Amino acid sequence: MARMDFLCWRAATLLLLFASGLECISVHISNEEPMYIIPGSTLVLRAHIQYGSPDELAAVTWERQAESGAPDGRAALAACPGGSLPLAVQCAATRPNVRASVEREASVLHVSNYGKADVGVYAVTATGKAGQSSTARCIVREYEAVHHVTVSINVSHSSLVCGEAWGTEPRFSWLHERDAVTAGVGRVSPDGATLVVTKLPICGHFTCVVSNKMGYSSATYTAAPCEQSGISGSTVAIVCLVVLQILGGGLAFLLWRRYRNRNRGDRLREHMDDNI
Ligand SMILES: *[C@@H]1O[C@H](CO)[C@@H](O)[C@H](O)[C@H]1NC(C)=O
Repeated sequence: MARMDFLCWRAATLLLLFASGLECISVHISNEEPMYIIPGSTLVLRAHIQYGSPDELAAVTWERQAESGAPDGRAALAACPGGSLPLAVQCAATRPNVRASVEREASVLHVSNYGKADVGVYAVTATGKAGQSSTARCIVREYEAVHHVTVSINVSHSSLVCGEAWGTEPRFSWLHERDAVTAGVGRVSPDGATLVVTKLPICGHFTCVVSNKMGYSSATYTAAPCEQSGISGSTVAIVCLVVLQILGGGLAFLLWRRYRNRNRGDRLREHMDDNI
């Protein structure tokens, strides 16, 4: 008897699974998350919907909630019809900058002129005829420009650390005296934020430039001026020049004296000739 009960229970479970499998509906958002949107541009989210029979889909809705989960940050954005959808159908949107459409296995949401008010967790829900539903979510944030870049020195490790307080997808590059840093000056860490200086002692100007899609910002660390190896060379040249000038001056003076003496001698001779 117990065995019979067990078999019945198994059959019922299988039947249930089979039935729910038929009515299964699933939705997922194809964009990678989190997404970063440049203010003023358009956010486009695509949802892929899968379900069994063609008229299974009853409705698709889009909404947004605050990333913090605060209930007052919840807003309905668009409501789309279900039924059999041979072509894309426009959905009813609740905001002027929102547009959505639905077709047989997809729904697309557009949020134009993206701004601070549009950040949050976007959720799309597909509901079936039997009331079953599936929801997919995607975190959407504002793409921020780079600002507040700083460079600090780590004396014990002879390295410079570039910190950026704000900015999405920062890319770092380093300059020494306005030229790109070469292997002779230092080594940049894989993430780009640290420069290990190999040319010691650390001298001159080191600039860290942080850039992203919206522009760049930079900061400079100024160490003691570099002892240029060229200075000794130019000093020698100046000294040589001065010596040459002195020598030249001396020679010119000697020549002038000799010339004057000879002239004076000539004049003396002429004077004597006149008197004779
Ligand atoms: C200097 O760099 C090392 C290695 O990255 C780190 O462990 C240390 O805390 C840093 N020191 C300072 C003062 O930041």
